[in-house]
Amino acid sequence: MSAQSIQEIHSKRFGTQGVVYQAPGRVNLIGEHTDTSEGYVMPAALDLRTISVLSPRSDTTANIYSVNFDEQVTLDLQHLPSRRRSHWSDYPTSVLWTLAQREIHPAGFDLTLSGDVPLGSGLSSSASVEVAVAVAVLAHAGITLTKPAIAKVCQFSENNFVGAQSGIMDPFTSCCGVENHALLIDCRSLDYEALPLASEVLLVICNSMVKHSLAGGGEYNARRAEVQAGVRILQQHYPDIHTLRDVTEEQLRRCENEMPEEIFRRCLHVVTENARVLQAAEALRSGDFLGFGRIMHQAHVSMRDNYAASCMETDLLVELAARQPGCFGARITGGGFGGCTINLVAADHADNFVRDVRSGYKDATGIQAEIYLSRASNGAGPLPQVS
Ligand code: GLA
Repeated sequence: MSAQSIQEIHSKRFGTQGVVYQAPGRVNLIGEHTDTSEGYVMPAALDLRTISVLSPRSDTTANIYSVNFDEQVTLDLQHLPSRRRSHWSDYPTSVLWTLAQREIHPAGFDLTLSGDVPLGSGLSSSASVEVAVAVAVLAHAGITLTKPAIAKVCQFSENNFVGAQSGIMDPFTSCCGVENHALLIDCRSLDYEALPLASEVLLVICNSMVKHSLAGGGEYNARRAEVQAGVRILQQHYPDIHTLRDVTEEQLRRCENEMPEEIFRRCLHVVTENARVLQAAEALRSGDFLGFGRIMHQAHVSMRDNYAASCMETDLLVELAARQPGCFGARITGGGFGGCTINLVAADHADNFVRDVRSGYKDATGIQAEIYLSRASNGAGPLPQVS
């Protein structure tokens, strides 16, 4: 749906035009489950996004209407809920709750949200909603925060209200994305470099249509806990380490016999994945897409076998992709346990790729995959006013 249509829906419902903002979802090219260990990631912001439209009110009420769910919730900004209720409104509410913790108390407002980031598919629909709410409400409250600071507000909201112990990658990318670039982010310092994506190679995203949910924790938090258990064992030998970011593969292997195999494997994934991101960045800088693709494949195998965060359907999509001419690399992207694969495909092979992967997947599973050809986009901000 266009920003203009969403603004019209807002005007009809609330009787005022409202200011329009957008915040993109993201796809991660490589660097999975490393952000929570202060490691490296390489995502790009998508042209799938959440639009928010906000107009001020003269009381302390927040009306939030979701176009996707065709439902409105009303909150009293002076008495915000302090717990999630496993409802779409948890995401916008979580941001208001975090702002209130930081003594940011906006006046009342009417807010319309509408997004085309598929939910629970590993493309960061939740961060895109949170960032779209944060940028709109902060502007309404007259508060200026840096983009990384907005990302931290959203991560805090997700961790402490929604209940997923997720890292900084998703909101950071939604805030800081750069058109036609991937971001190489150091999740410890939050320094980042925008790496150009060549126009002859497309980011093709295949949605297995198997949904995952990070809300409330589940498998995602369980993996994090396993990694933290591994860090505690490593710290007995290397007291200076804080996270797996500080650990080499050799150090980890020296402690292998002291940890349960599963914990060793989770840690091995993170430690080797950090190294892969840096190698992949080098490959991208030198235009070596074949090399980049090989590293993507290794990353997929590690997500599947060591982190145990893939599933039959996403493995199948990766296998189908690997057989296609013009496909440099394919891997599961995002939190995992379903969701999407990211494929690096030569632009002149993209149509055949989409056709053949779609039909191969349908034949094998009976499921109609959705496939998106996305361009890397800019991060969140206001959209030009449409009248
Ligand atoms: C989810 C989380 C991110 C990151 C990825 C896995 O998207 O929100 O912080 O951990 O999973 O890389």
